[in-house]
Amino acid sequence: MPAVIILGVQWGDEGKGKATDQLGQRADYVVKFNGGNNAGHTVSVDGQKFALHLLPSGILNSDCISVIGNGVVVDPEALFAEMAELESRGVSTKNLRIAGNAHVITSYTKMFDRLNEEVLGDGKIGTTGRGIGPTYADKANRVGIRIVDLVHPRRLRGQVETAVAQKNLVLRALGREEINVDDVLTELLAYGERLAPMMISASRELNEALDDGKTVVFEGGQSTLLDIDHGNYPYVTSSNATAGGAVTGSGVGPTRIDRVVGIVKAYATRVGEGPFPTELHGDTGDWLREAGGEYGVTTGRPRRCGWYDAPVTRYAVRVNGLTDLVLTKLDVLTGVEEIPVCVGYEIDGQRVHEFPIDTWDFANAKPIYEYHPGWTEDISTVREFADLPANAQSYVRWLEEMAGCRFSLIGVGPDREQTIVLHDLLG
Ligand code: GDP
Ligand code: IMO
Ligand code: MG
Repeated sequence: MPAVIILGVQWGDEGKGKATDQLGQRADYVVKFNGGNNAGHTVSVDGQKFALHLLPSGILNSDCISVIGNGVVVDPEALFAEMAELESRGVSTKNLRIAGNAHVITSYTKMFDRLNEEVLGDGKIGTTGRGIGPTYADKANRVGIRIVDLVHPRRLRGQVETAVAQKNLVLRALGREEINVDDVLTELLAYGERLAPMMISASRELNEALDDGKTVVFEGGQSTLLDIDHGNYPYVTSSNATAGGAVTGSGVGPTRIDRVVGIVKAYATRVGEGPFPTELHGDTGDWLREAGGEYGVTTGRPRRCGWYDAPVTRYAVRVNGLTDLVLTKLDVLTGVEEIPVCVGYEIDGQRVHEFPIDTWDFANAKPIYEYHPGWTEDISTVREFADLPANAQSYVRWLEEMAGCRFSLIGVGPDREQTIVLHDLLG
């Protein structure tokens, strides 16, 4: 099974990093295809914790080539800081490659991320403030700067002048300090010098690797409900976190993909604004946050916590064409007497069982819960499905049936080996 996409089912932070790292140990390439350093992927290896943002989780395997694909937006400053941090911990970054046609997050797109949120006021998105939205906006507006541009000083000057002209009109109107082209150029050209040796045609290298029978894992950032097309628009990120993003974000065609794996948490979390019907307020939500360690890896914000939403998973199975699901954090539910699971919603007096595409319908949705008896045994050392308590087994089988997609791995703890394997994702 050479080409496998790993992506999030809910609102991010499902444990994509752990799953990618596990496959990454056997992969020749791990490719990031969307987002940027808004992502925070935690990988625990022998009790040592690594928080990865822009770097693919394959970086922890010294034999693996890590690729930042063209669908990613790259903040060079953040990239170099993350590389330095890993190097200082003895992790080599020599196998990192970056697609020349990936777009660059600049000091001014970061500034506009903050400014946009300020202008939106109460209607803000609650972004990570990393410049993601404005960088993708420049890309779509055809005034973006790409990695490949950073080594062409004359061309770059013209591009920066064009990009900055529009922004300075806004800054002038707001009475704010304008962007200085020379300052931007000096910064970008210095980055270009360092990035040039890592620059590749990702499409070419990845397709050649697949021709040679190599294993390529595509690692998604964010998740299905944060996807700009399929998520709770406008409370989304600005890229395609769904399966299609893996092909447009890497230059590998859809016919080459063998498996699409969705990572889903046994409950749900969300960071930032936007609807979340199963959200828990008060003691139970606080308990879940502490039990699951639900604090943002990127911004440190406490994550909003709630119960598992079955229509959301079924929706993700559909829009991504999932072949497998990985259920994470089952261990966190240990001790819950009766586990609530949302099986549908009541929206304006109507009972619906499918995820609604209108964000305002979703915001008005009252969850309809069914309950499953829980278990009290510690399951963090279980490695065989049959050794799980009977109620945990039937809980998993019930979720699987509602999802309409097989569960192939079950997470019972953050460490690599704290996993129950039902089906080999690379087999
Ligand atoms: P990502 O953004 O999807 O990679 O997820 P994050 O790293 O932001 O958040 C997931 C958190 O859950 C991390 O701290 C992981 O170490 C942890 N984690 C992953 N899988 C499991 C699991 O099965 N059980 C427990 N208890 N923790 C897990
Ligand atoms: P991983 O890959 C959870 C959220 C932000 C905000 C919205 C838009 O770790 O799952 P942005 O900065 O992207 O413009 O913010 O998306 N968000 C995430 N939430 N996990 C993430 O990444 C996220 N990346 C962005 O909180 O609501
Ligand atoms: Mg995360």
